[in-house]
Amino acid sequence: MESFKPLALLLLFLLPITTVTGWGVDGHFTTCKIAQGRLTQAAADAVNHLLPEYAEGDLASLCSWADHVKFRYHWSSPLHYIDTPDDLCTYQYNRDCKDEDGTMGRCVAGAIKNYTTQLQDYGKQTSQYNLTEALLFLSHFIGDIHQPLHVGFTTDRGGNTINVHWFTRKAVLHHVWDDSIIETAEERFYNSDVETLIDAIQTNITKEWADQVQIWEKCSRNQITCPNIYATEGINAACNWAYKGVGNDSVLGDDYFLSRLPIVNWRLAQGGVRLAATLNGIFG
Ligand SMILES: *[C@@H]1O[C@H](CO)[C@@H](O)[C@H](O)[C@H]1NC(C)=O
Ligand SMILES: *[C@@H]1O[C@H](CO)[C@@H](O)[C@H](O)[C@H]1NC(C)=O
Ligand SMILES: *[C@@H]1O[C@H](CO)[C@@H](O)[C@H](O)[C@H]1NC(C)=O
Ligand SMILES: *[C@@H]1O[C@H](CO)[C@@H](O)[C@H](O)[C@H]1NC(C)=O
Repeated sequence: MESFKPLALLLLFLLPITTVTGWGVDGHFTTCKIAQGRLTQAAADAVNHLLPEYAEGDLASLCSWADHVKFRYHWSSPLHYIDTPDDLCTYQYNRDCKDEDGTMGRCVAGAIKNYTTQLQDYGKQTSQYNLTEALLFLSHFIGDIHQPLHVGFTTDRGGNTINVHWFTRKAVLHHVWDDSIIETAEERFYNSDVETLIDAIQTNITKEWADQVQIWEKCSRNQITCPNIYATEGINAACNWAYKGVGNDSVLGDDYFLSRLPIVNWRLAQGGVRLAATLNGIFG
């Protein structure tokens, strides 16, 4: 086994950035940054305590950790997304939350439940799980489930096999939603600075969207987190915005960019608000 490690590492660097990832680094950084600004004292203390020392208390700096361990923890790959039946535009936990072998619960919604439950052991006797990893997985997966194409169709693997042009560059549709829309927005509107984008989203969370935010935070029946709601919103956004009007070889330019950017900002905001609400619920 040991001799495979360098090979795996090499492959990691050779892999095109177009493989399934979830929001790219900036998307995940954004949701974790928004979340950390909304934690209660108890949740902030628990997060600080669970983070490795080198993170220096900054959850956002490790928000992409789950992508970096996909090779080491090969079992975790299916936990980043949900494949739903082609063209149906609906999601059902019992039908769709499984991996390619058909093992139930192995999808991003199941993983959010899993790591929420594990973290509820925080402060009790010793947990059988590594709660630092549970925190990093949960923070990443609540981001991923808000990326519309992470709840996408099965055959095109959430837009991974749809080849498009992002302006003049070749890309796959999935990558456009992970990274390209966010990067183009940063370049055009935010001085190529993710912090400026985060400030703009945070301003909207406290002003324009304040009424909505209270609804985003709530789950029914005292549940701490409600990934099935997030996933249903996700497949709806995938159908209404991500896939809409796009086929192999589509050229996506300003029309697509400017009409989809508000959806991306909205989903990043929801992801951040809900990650905070989930952590606040867990740590009391
Ligand atoms: C739950 O978490 C454990 C520990 O990380 C992991 O082994 C298992 O695969 C996870 N299952 C799901 C569905 O997330
Ligand atoms: C928990 O996981 C982190 C990240 O993988 C690791 O650095 C740490 O050593 C683990 N802690 C224990 C007690 O195994
Ligand atoms: C797009 O084209 C690629 C390469 O020809 C093919 O593999 C893929 O299945 C096509 N995707 C769709 C959604 O038609
Ligand atoms: C904030 O809301 C305003 C008004 O709806 C909108 O024009 C702007 O694009 C939003 N900015 C972000 C980053 O969401």
